[in-house]
Amino acid sequence: AQRIVVLLSGRGSNYRALRQAQADGRLDGEIAAVVSDQPDAAGLGLARDDDIETFCVPRAQHPDRTTFEQALAEAIAASGAHWIVLAGFMRVLSARFVQAHAGRMVNIHPSLLPRHRGLNTHQRVLAAGESEHGASVHFVTPELDGGPVISQVRLKVEPGDTADQLAERLLPLEHRLFPATMALLLRYPVEARDESISIQGKTLSAPLVL
Ligand code: GAR
Repeated sequence: AQRIVVLLSGRGSNYRALRQAQADGRLDGEIAAVVSDQPDAAGLGLARDDDIETFCVPRAQHPDRTTFEQALAEAIAASGAHWIVLAGFMRVLSARFVQAHAGRMVNIHPSLLPRHRGLNTHQRVLAAGESEHGASVHFVTPELDGGPVISQVRLKVEPGDTADQLAERLLPLEHRLFPATMALLLRYPVEARDESISIQGKTLSAPLVL
């Protein structure tokens, strides 16, 4: 099975969904390790409970971003993973780091990219008066939340919705989207080409809607 390393900074519910998919046989891969920049991330505890190898690489223990990213790269290499999955990893990675892992690093972002890159996506959807929200899985490129989008899930914004309500309704959809997308990546040759995605050599005209 292809090995996956999950990078996370917090709760770890997307990690748990991926792990569950592996256990159910919906994901033909092996989560080899979980790496966090936050020593007290709940996701690290979940991984330990699952007997998954964990690595903690706290930013504060490194004098600068270069040495932090070196330690991160060492943990990833030690996991033996091909796929690097950012599941609520809240640190921006340098272009150099991203390029070193090009084509095998993906991220889940809580918006319909290219709308609402960055933080506070739920509030920003409401502030913009949009009727639709969602989540995206994309290849990571040096541009923050800017890489080619592989797949999306959509969610209707209801009148009176709060940001917390949107986040709460979106999360279970993320938990479907991420494992399904990883299952696809593990099964087919999926590549990022320029701004778009190709599957078995065929270019997608739009992200897959899962
Ligand atoms: C998820 O909603 C994910 O989309 C988001 O953080 C949450 C992590 O939850 N990611 C980002 O905002 C990336 N910038 P989890 O720790 O329970 O998986």
